[in-house]
Amino acid sequence: MIDRFGREISYLRISITDRCNLRCFYCMPPHPEHLCHADILTYEEIVRTAEAAASLGITKIRITGGEPLVRRDCAELIAMLKAIPGIRTVAMTTNGILLADCLPALCRAGLDAVNISIDTVQEARWRAVTRSDRPMPDWQSLLNRCVQSGLRTKVNAVLMKETRGDWMVLAALAESLTVDVRFIEQMPIGRGAVSESECAGEVLRTLRTRWPDLHPASDEEKSSPARYYESAGLTGRIGLIAPMTHRFCESCNRIRLTSTGQLKPCLSYETGTDLRELLRAGASDGELREVMCRCIDKKPKQHCFADPTEAAEHRTMNRIGG
Ligand code: GTP
Ligand code: 5AD
Ligand code: SF4
Repeated sequence: MIDRFGREISYLRISITDRCNLRCFYCMPPHPEHLCHADILTYEEIVRTAEAAASLGITKIRITGGEPLVRRDCAELIAMLKAIPGIRTVAMTTNGILLADCLPALCRAGLDAVNISIDTVQEARWRAVTRSDRPMPDWQSLLNRCVQSGLRTKVNAVLMKETRGDWMVLAALAESLTVDVRFIEQMPIGRGAVSESECAGEVLRTLRTRWPDLHPASDEEKSSPARYYESAGLTGRIGLIAPMTHRFCESCNRIRLTSTGQLKPCLSYETGTDLRELLRAGASDGELREVMCRCIDKKPKQHCFADPTEAAEHRTMNRIGG
């Protein structure tokens, strides 16, 4: 479906839970109140929504959270989504804690790609950022397993002043592994609103002291929020996601479904359409499609992060899915 600004909407992000086994300070409060089971869409309701979305031109789905792997039988949902005609790619964004154990089932289910949130490779710092006393996963080995399993693999590192010292080591993960390492400007959503981001341009300047030939990649994905850079010294790429300093909304191709069934046309606005009520009231496929079309039609031109007085999103990121 094409929206009123000529953007082709082909990507649906689905948050399947607000729960998480970490508490990253920019994302969640330390002691969050959780949604109750009945508030959350069932897998059947999610699949029905995804079928309607596919019939409107969605070809790519990303499963997010909270942490999607804390929800039971996540691989079964992936298999159901992969079986929908028109859905070519099913990807997941995860914090990596449960990934090694789930990998075989996820691959059997047909998962195509995984983005792993790794903000720091330094254990004490990782525990501070994630407010966790778990042991930090062995990132190198986890990434290696993902790549060996045939998953297209990316690293997501949210920029914060506490992790400046990690930039080089994170980028160096792309030296020997075919992974894209992406640095993300923190957005003023939830806790992100109160903590400070570094800017993506500064990361590029720093990385060029070690990889001076970093240059824009030839095969840019136009609708991706990331701008990619390549270097002869790297197997994978470096990505910069800079919503704050370089707005990428004009090529946005995505909509979001929250775990409670709200269809959100833009990450930054709180507004959206409640599909859960419709699904539970026995709406027909046609009605569902029509309501989704109307929601896409209201997709704003661009985000409102610079003007938080607008109808800005006040929920924390774990309730939206990023
Ligand atoms: P690919 O499909 O692999 O390109 O991943 P993605 O960037 O779409 O998804 P991911 O879940 O890895 O998100 C990476 C970062 O981009 C997170 O910080 C998201 O919140 C942010 N992001 C994703 N989509 C949007 C968007 O439409 N607008 C803004 N402002 N940020 C987004
Ligand atoms: N700004 C930018 N990215 C964020 N994420 C969570 N909160 C924020 C924020 N305020 C990232 C996570 C994960 C992805 C879904 O969104 O680290 O990689
Ligand atoms: Fe959990 Fe991801 Fe939020 Fe961290 S950013 S608390 S890993 S949902």
